[in-house]
Amino acid sequence: MKTLDISSPLGKCRVQKVSWRDQVSLLAKEGVVFVTDSHIHSFLGESLPQERTVILEPGEKRKTLSTVEKIYQRFLDWGVDRSWRAVGIGGGVVGDITGFAASTYMRGIPFILIPTTLLSQVDACVGGKTGVNFRGYKNIIGTFSQPQRILLDFDFLHTLPPKEILCGMAEIIKHALIASPSLFRFLEKEWPRLLALEEDVLEKAVFESLRIKSSVVKGDPKEKNRRRMLNFGHTLAHALEKTTGASHGEAVIQGMMWAVRISERKGILSEKNSQRIQTFLEEIKQFPSEGLPSLSLSEAVRKDKKKEKENLHYVFLSQVGEARVQKISYAQLEEFIDGLCES
Ligand SMILES: NC(=O)c1ccc[n+]([C@@H]2O[C@H](COP(=O)([O-])OP(=O)(O)OC[C@H]3O[C@@H](n4cnc5c(N)ncnc54)[C@H](O)[C@@H]3O)[C@@H](O)[C@H]2O)c1
Repeated sequence: MKTLDISSPLGKCRVQKVSWRDQVSLLAKEGVVFVTDSHIHSFLGESLPQERTVILEPGEKRKTLSTVEKIYQRFLDWGVDRSWRAVGIGGGVVGDITGFAASTYMRGIPFILIPTTLLSQVDACVGGKTGVNFRGYKNIIGTFSQPQRILLDFDFLHTLPPKEILCGMAEIIKHALIASPSLFRFLEKEWPRLLALEEDVLEKAVFESLRIKSSVVKGDPKEKNRRRMLNFGHTLAHALEKTTGASHGEAVIQGMMWAVRISERKGILSEKNSQRIQTFLEEIKQFPSEGLPSLSLSEAVRKDKKKEKENLHYVFLSQVGEARVQKISYAQLEEFIDGLCES
């Protein structure tokens, strides 16, 4: 069984590739409570014990404190105490909410994640961030708390819409670009097989991604410094999502493309490396970047960062597999944005 052991200041966590059916029937015999959403529940059907499963409405809009209250209420109704474990089965939304509810109920009960989207398998399940949105602020309420175990089954991915697959693929590419030249070479070579979700390439890409994210987080679990490199491509991606309605995956691919070009213009990344990465991203990119409104993008960046003085931390690439976080002024970033939107 393919396994990855993660140890960080937040605790230990074992990631295992499993069959979800076997694991769910084993776990159902123990003191566990399942948390899932109605989409996943429609696939898993009878496999979850109805009397111990909280079914949430799906989607980011439900990632709120009132959803967490409903979970606490069920925990109380079912007599959940610290000897129980919560098991979150779903995408990043279910994972973040389950982790938050579990890490705050009775000052913390252990939890397990069974991530069902590619994004949650390669990214959201590790790193120990849990949380919910509040009054328009994303993930502003939360805890740092790590699951005991993460159980991966790639069968879930076959029912995911392509736009959700792209979200996860974008994070795999990001992990390669910031920390692993060998994973990037692998992606260049095996991209069509990865997109076809062939099990052997998927296993390598997912486990490598998790290894990279957890090793970045290990040195900086509370995001004071190094962990910021995980935001590579995301500053402009968030702005693009807000101003144009691009999906998260499309926006992250475009955001990385821009971050690569900005790194080259700053003289941090060589033209050769920049071209190599752009050629790869161009193949995947689905969002038309022509004619984008630079003013709205700049405004969205300022709002998103809740503006710390006149500068923000921006993630540049210095090599394929090497990132560097440096402060940049909003004024300079806006100049870059103008240039990117014109070219
Ligand atoms: N904690 C972290 O470090 C971290 C990191 C990245 C993202 N996140 C969070 O993750 C969330 C996004 O996660 P996501 O992209 O998984 O979105 P999601 O959880 O909203 O899932 C997307 C949609 O796919 C459905 N779905 C889930 N699995 C499915 C499957 N196997 N087949 C068909 N449909 C399925 C869900 O019901 C939902 O409608 C955001 O809230 C984000 O803040 C957290």
